Amino acid sequence: MKIEENKELKALNTFGIEAKAKNYVRIDSFEDAQAFFKQKEYEEPILILGGGSNILLTEDFNGTVINNHIKGIEGIEENDKSITLKVGAGENWHEFVLHCIEQGYAGIENLSLIPGKVGASPMQNIGAYGVEVKEVITEVECLRLADAEKMIFTNEECQFDYRSSIFKTTHKGQYFITSVSFKLNKKPTFKVSYGAIQAQLLANGVDQDHLSIKAISDAVIQIRQSKLPDPKEIGNSGSFFKNPIVSKEKFLSLKKRFKDMPAYELPQGGYKLAAGWLIEKAGWKGYTERNYGVHKKQALVLVNYGGASGNEIYNLSERILQSIIQKFGVELEREVNVV
Ligand code: FAD
Ligand code: EPU
Repeated sequence: MKIEENKELKALNTFGIEAKAKNYVRIDSFEDAQAFFKQKEYEEPILILGGGSNILLTEDFNGTVINNHIKGIEGIEENDKSITLKVGAGENWHEFVLHCIEQGYAGIENLSLIPGKVGASPMQNIGAYGVEVKEVITEVECLRLADAEKMIFTNEECQFDYRSSIFKTTHKGQYFITSVSFKLNKKPTFKVSYGAIQAQLLANGVDQDHLSIKAISDAVIQIRQSKLPDPKEIGNSGSFFKNPIVSKEKFLSLKKRFKDMPAYELPQGGYKLAAGWLIEKAGWKGYTERNYGVHKKQALVLVNYGGASGNEIYNLSERILQSIIQKFGVELEREVNVV
């Protein structure tokens, strides 16, 4: 494995932030990863990088960036109803989704077009349009950084939650995810309760009798392309903040003041508010300063039009956060990993 020095990371993060890594290494297999962590001949701290679509680099990285390229899709269990696939953490997420659709394996079609790699999917339990990846993950294979020991975490052990897992909380920075196993259905249960999907299917002329995982994937792709900026054109990391969860009391007091405020009652109690709505209502949608700002079509997405620094974007996020506390008494939490 070749360690590169002074590596420019601009092309490796979808925000398009210019930052350098003191050391950089690309890892192509489980064996290489194990040897690398065992030998410990790298400079700490380390930053594991997948597709760089959920990070904000605020400074040069004064350690070792490890870019994960472990590939491979392997069937490990199969019957009439389902198949379990073990997928290399370096596989591109959307290409994996398309592969499953082509094979008729259902369960992740609603998660089409999410950028990034398979290895990061359990990190924050990626979700979109009524589905979260925790619904299909059976286990996550990792290397423990401290001793290069192989570890398997079952679905339950990952403690998946909304945009969260142990890899983002209690076990943060301690594991290198090498593969993820997914149990997919051969007989699909279509998840189309999300209003936007229903409207798009209707617009595409797809009725109940013609529903398919491909039709759902196509609809999701169309919705996403209509409101989310393509990182190839405008730098961004998707939703910058999580949607906040508040008590019933707080929800009722806000609803009294803002009759049109969208909110979803959660089965476990509490209400999820739409951070995009709060940010828009506070006047930030489309806000632009120099060459960065808040996306014109989706207030939850901060954008770099080119040349902004990570600190400028972070400071903007802080101003937004403070203004939402002031206007609504709600504290937003960043979804993006700030490095
Ligand atoms: P990276 O950004 O490279 O890494 C993210 C974090 O995971 C970092 O902390 C990194 O250190 C860690 N990490 C990455 N790989 C590993 C590994 N192998 N082992 C250990 N740690 C690792 N997310 C959603 O949930 N739903 C969406 O709908 C969605 N839409 C998006 C739309 C756009 C336009 C963009 C730009 C982003 C969107 N995202 C969405 C966020 C992002 O795509 C996901 O979080 C994705 O899973 C990140 O994958 P990545 O490989 O790019 O991770
Ligand atoms: N809204 C506004 N103004 C805006 C943006 C949104 O009023 O500028 C309102 C919408 O009208 C709607 C509500 O907010 O009533 C929710 O909006 P939307 O359906 O666009 O979804 P979101 O809550 O903004 C979440 C995820 C996305 C995911 C979509 C679809 C989070 C933090 N974000 O966005 O995930 O793709 O739902 O399921 O949960 C990501 O995590 O990076 C991401 C893009």
